[in-house]
Amino acid sequence: MSGEKHDTPDPDLLVAAIDARANAYVPYSGYHVGAALRGMNGKIYTGVNVENAAYPEGTCAEAGAIAAMVLDGEREIAEIAVAGPEGAIITPCGGCRQKLREFSRATVAVHSCDPTGCKQTITIGDLLPHAFSPEHLS
Ligand code: THU
Repeated sequence: MSGEKHDTPDPDLLVAAIDARANAYVPYSGYHVGAALRGMNGKIYTGVNVENAAYPEGTCAEAGAIAAMVLDGEREIAEIAVAGPEGAIITPCGGCRQKLREFSRATVAVHSCDPTGCKQTITIGDLLPHAFSPEHLS
């Protein structure tokens, strides 16, 4: 039992990512992002982007959700949802693809959402092919 889900997105996960957007701290870009991860333990962990006056110090929503998951003792992601504004399909930035891959098998689904729902589903392995991953160091 892998706990991964490859068909329809977990509705609670989508709602968690979409709702989180309300608390994004985005005084510079105005671009609200929410991320939600479902751990193999079944729990949902959320995060938002937190920007900073020193621009490069800002953090992505995915990084916040990963930190919450790790703090809780979970180490394996079963499913990922990222929610942005209505319009273009949001996908995790390059750095976040690598951060997510640290805790996800290549087959884990990444759902791109906007406030109306899921717009695209793609695996983390397709988003970050030929990744350097923990398997290289084991
Ligand atoms: N951002 C995220 O939080 N996650 C993504 O997947 C893409 C981009 C944030 C970073 C910055 O605060 C804002 O969106 C605009 O780039």
